[in-house]
Amino acid sequence: MTVVKLGGSLLERQELRAAALKAVCDRWGSGASLLVVHGGGKRVDAMMAELGIPRKTHQGLRVTDHRTMEVVLSVLTGFVNKSLVAEVCGLGARAAGFCGADGATLRAEFHPMLDGVDLGYVGRVMGVDVMLVRALLKERLLPVIASVALGPGGVLLNINADAAASALAVSLKARRLVFLTDVEGLLDSRGQVVPRLGPDEARNLLRGGAVGGGMRPKLGACLEALAGGVAEVVIAGPQRHATALRRGNGGTRLVAA
Ligand SMILES: Nc1ncnc2c1ncn2[C@@H]1O[C@H](COP(=O)(O)OP(=O)(O)OP(=O)(O)O)[C@@H](O)[C@H]1O
Ligand SMILES: [Mg+2]
Repeated sequence: MTVVKLGGSLLERQELRAAALKAVCDRWGSGASLLVVHGGGKRVDAMMAELGIPRKTHQGLRVTDHRTMEVVLSVLTGFVNKSLVAEVCGLGARAAGFCGADGATLRAEFHPMLDGVDLGYVGRVMGVDVMLVRALLKERLLPVIASVALGPGGVLLNINADAAASALAVSLKARRLVFLTDVEGLLDSRGQVVPRLGPDEARNLLRGGAVGGGMRPKLGACLEALAGGVAEVVIAGPQRHATALRRGNGGTRLVAA
């Protein structure tokens, strides 16, 4: 079982998106068991700008008020998810798209305040129910999951897609978790791809200044997956998408100590 996280920046670049989806469909076509998780922050930003809603982030997380959550929901579980499903089906794989709230697949709690900032409808994944995913896989339907979770009392929460992919990989006892992104891997302070690293090195890098932006939560999600028993975690850029899915080789390979 391989869990694949498709990065939002990648999805916005047509040629990279096409190559990534082809790699996913080729792998699926060879009989592999796969699951796709996606975000779509760039597309959400574009819609927010069109609607004139100001964008606020704090420590890399989107401050999500009620209106912002409506946009997140419409864009991620609507436009982004259904476009992916259609493209995957167009490439010959039967896919079914849904979000973490469907089948109560991903449950989350409200994210605690950060430096006194209330993040609003942002969730932290607390539980995974793999029943819906397993049912689809049994019928050879490729699950495509948007990063929205079920919060307390039936509220919908915006969650980080890297964390969602990691939680799913752990619960499904996946052998491999692959982050397909727009950079060739984790870059060190000289801008070189780090080919292989263990949890201690990853934690050291997070403490230093070399890792910023979206790579910070991604590396955190990698560490969670390793701690949860996933054997291979790979961060791969456009040049290595196919090999990352096929063999677990990519830009950066993380292995448990
Ligand atoms: N040390 C680093 N190595 C690699 N990328 C880094 C590093 N520090 C910061 N980054 C940034 O992190 C980005 C990758 O994270 P980002 O969240 O943008 O991608 P993603 O998770 O694939 O997409 P999305 O969050 O939209 O789903 C890179 O494009 C780069 O700009
Ligand atoms: Mg990201």
